[in-house]
Amino acid sequence: MIRIKNLTRIYSLGDVRVKAIQDVTLNVEQGEVVTIMGKSGSGKSTLLRQLGLLDRPTSGEVYIEGEEVSSMGDRKRSHLRLEKLGYVFQEFALLPELSAYENVYLPGLMLSKKGVDFRKKAREILSLVGLGERIDHKPRELSGGEQQRVAIARSLINSPKYIFADEPCANLDTLSSKAVMNTLVDLNKRLGITVIFVSHDPDDKMYSNRQIFLKDGRLVEPYF
Ligand SMILES: Nc1ncnc2c1ncn2[C@@H]1O[C@H](COP(=O)(O)OP(=O)(O)OP(=O)(O)O)[C@@H](O)[C@H]1O
Ligand SMILES: [Mg+2]
Repeated sequence: MIRIKNLTRIYSLGDVRVKAIQDVTLNVEQGEVVTIMGKSGSGKSTLLRQLGLLDRPTSGEVYIEGEEVSSMGDRKRSHLRLEKLGYVFQEFALLPELSAYENVYLPGLMLSKKGVDFRKKAREILSLVGLGERIDHKPRELSGGEQQRVAIARSLINSPKYIFADEPCANLDTLSSKAVMNTLVDLNKRLGITVIFVSHDPDDKMYSNRQIFLKDGRLVEPYF
């Protein structure tokens, strides 16, 4: 479970201070699929980055499985991210010269887990996301939706308990978006991975068990 308590993140740019999220308290249980929704600038990405340990709060606490992590040292946080958390971004962020298989396999090398055959695992994961026939393709030889599924496969290589996705379908057409969202939901069902994703699209609420709405950095009641 991830718990955040009275979390505030203020960005300072010179003399300007932006309160991107303010006093947010929230629990995400293991096995949930949660959507973070709200207008542009409402603080969605900021909140996701806090939940995913990609940033530190200005004030407040973050607990992952009971452990307070906002004051934890950088090394321990990096290790925790690599071991338990997976990320999917809007722009895929695949390495263009590497094949799908190599893109997925690479982050496995950073966590030297003994006894894990990451080559075999990369192949298995690519099959799991429906790309078993595409493992030797480079990103440019794949559709946008397929590239995003490679990025999802990459996020799975270290068997994370949580996946964080910031508008994973923003650059995709409707059909590819469905394939990507169904892949995430399927991973939740089959592997019990907790999925937290940001979306602009009200229709995306059908993919999640729960929706969280932000307005001006605060949690609010649904607006539809
Ligand atoms: N690094 C930063 N420095 C200063 N201000 C920032 C920074 N990142 C975000 N902000 C500001 O914080 C607020 C929340 O930004 P955030 O990116 O979390 O919004 P969002 O809901 O994800 O928006 P979008 O839907 O456009 O992606 C915005 O007003 C934004 O301008
Ligand atoms: Mg955003």
